[in-house]
Amino acid sequence: MKTVLAFLKPYKLPAVVAFLLMLIELTVELMLPFFLGKMINEGVVNQDIDTIMMWGVIMIGLAFIAFIAGIINSFYSSHVGWGFAHDIRKKLFAKIQAFSFANLNQYPTSGLMTRFTNDVRQIQNTIYMILRIMSKAPLLVIGGVIMAFVVNARLALIFLITVPILVGFILWVLKRASGLFNKIQNSIDKVNRVMQENLSGMRLIKAFSRRNHEETRFTEANKTLANRTRYTFRFIESSMPVLLFVMNLSLIFIIWFGNLQTISGTTSVGDVVAIINYAMRVAMSISMFTFIIMGISRMKASADRVDQVLNVDVDLKDHDEADSSLRVKQGFITFDHVSFIYPGTTKSVLSNVRFSVNPGERLAVIGSTGSGKTSLFQLIPRLYDATEGEIRIDHRPTTDYTLDNLRRSIGYVPQSPLLFTGTVAENIAWGKEHASTKEIIHAAKDAQIHDAIMELDNQYQTKVGQKGVNLSGGQKQRISIARALIRNPKILMLDDSTSALDLTTESKLLHAMESYECTTLLITQKISTAMRADRILLIDEGKVLAIGTHEELLHSSSLYQRIVTSQFGKEYANVE
Ligand code: CTP
Ligand code: MG
Repeated sequence: MKTVLAFLKPYKLPAVVAFLLMLIELTVELMLPFFLGKMINEGVVNQDIDTIMMWGVIMIGLAFIAFIAGIINSFYSSHVGWGFAHDIRKKLFAKIQAFSFANLNQYPTSGLMTRFTNDVRQIQNTIYMILRIMSKAPLLVIGGVIMAFVVNARLALIFLITVPILVGFILWVLKRASGLFNKIQNSIDKVNRVMQENLSGMRLIKAFSRRNHEETRFTEANKTLANRTRYTFRFIESSMPVLLFVMNLSLIFIIWFGNLQTISGTTSVGDVVAIINYAMRVAMSISMFTFIIMGISRMKASADRVDQVLNVDVDLKDHDEADSSLRVKQGFITFDHVSFIYPGTTKSVLSNVRFSVNPGERLAVIGSTGSGKTSLFQLIPRLYDATEGEIRIDHRPTTDYTLDNLRRSIGYVPQSPLLFTGTVAENIAWGKEHASTKEIIHAAKDAQIHDAIMELDNQYQTKVGQKGVNLSGGQKQRISIARALIRNPKILMLDDSTSALDLTTESKLLHAMESYECTTLLITQKISTAMRADRILLIDEGKVLAIGTHEELLHSSSLYQRIVTSQFGKEYANVE
């Protein structure tokens, strides 16, 4: 909770103002029964209209002051609450932007979303309530008891018995409840997660006709949430009758004992009325404890969860020795004895990988599925760091560059293209800040997507739905290629990005890419594509089996021969 609460610092002044205003309200509330007693004793009992009027005006005036103080207080309290929530969200967002892939694996999207929405709102509401009413309740209990003693110490003695009982009881209830709230929060997370997966996989679910399975999964998560919530709230609610019972008993006692004293003349009617009034206010405040501590324990659970994210160790950041003036100039890539294991796993995905790519060279990476091609790619822009060995660009370790400079020089087309909500033009321009229309069209033409875009209803202004549903797989691939090309990168990396293209289009694309002065790495499954590269890297089970031209590999690598045979037939491989 500490990290989150530190965000309150800039709001110290408005918080203090809100607190002082609350104290005004509190004072008025504590004075009213006292004055009411006086009005009865001096005015009503003596039938003195002037005194009644005087106390009446004083009380109305005080109530009015409290009313105004209350309004201004809620203004300041909500200012603190909103501002505070805004700051946390901002910080959370920035933090998640800095997350490495490994960090993202650790926190699923649904969990992050709940933190942004539910948790932040919970904290915000509680902060508001604390400033507005929560801090008043305990003070009112203490103040009420003291005032009751001032009015009539003998009658007030009953408070010494009831107040500790009630407070003790409520604290016991809440101690149990706080654990229950943690469980509720976890269930909310679960429901969100199931829902999120369901929504993003809706098409797949329909295609596989897995509706029932999904429904069962959701129903279970939902039921657990409902059960836990019900149990917790029932438990808390059941404390209410106990509270009311003790409170009513003490009221009966005050009235009974007060009556006896009034008859014997040791106490005045006004005192009894005032004490009853205090008793009710004190009891009300104590009953609010449930609500207060409930709010605070929920806030604590939420704040701890937000803290978790804010305190995550981002394992991938600029190294201290990174030189911010260092830029990638040529695009010379070296893998020097690189091994890689995904964080949190033990399986070696890449082992002892060694190769270099010259500036401007085109290297095709070929290998069976799961052989580590994507993993190899991800190490270059430092989406993950190598476990062993070193990757150098232009003869400098990648860690010498700032992440920003390194990634800016790279055009990366991931294996599964992701488009953002927005127009086609915006999606392409996403690759380069302030890209002009001319640049967008140029990149689109090179990516062989221009013609297809021109056939869309609104051409470049066509809206791409969430994740680009209204485009074909190949179109999405090419838009994300255009997005990479528009950067004019020094290093261009295509992860199986031409898989959905027909041969002619692919050929045109490869040709157009030649006009870019960059080192190109492209993962492909097709020998026909690989052949058009300067060299081919053959990878299997995380090891580089061979690197060289098509002809070289054909002679040196039996695996390569087998792949060629499987795609072109036996004759081809033999003839070569
Ligand atoms: N892997 C992993 N954790 C990830 C991604 C991958 O442990 N977050 C493992 C996979 O189990 C796989 C190996 O890393 O065995 C290599 O994965 P990858 O590099 O993605 O393989 P590719 O060669 O890219 O396979 P494909 O052609 O199917 O894309
Ligand atoms: Mg892959």
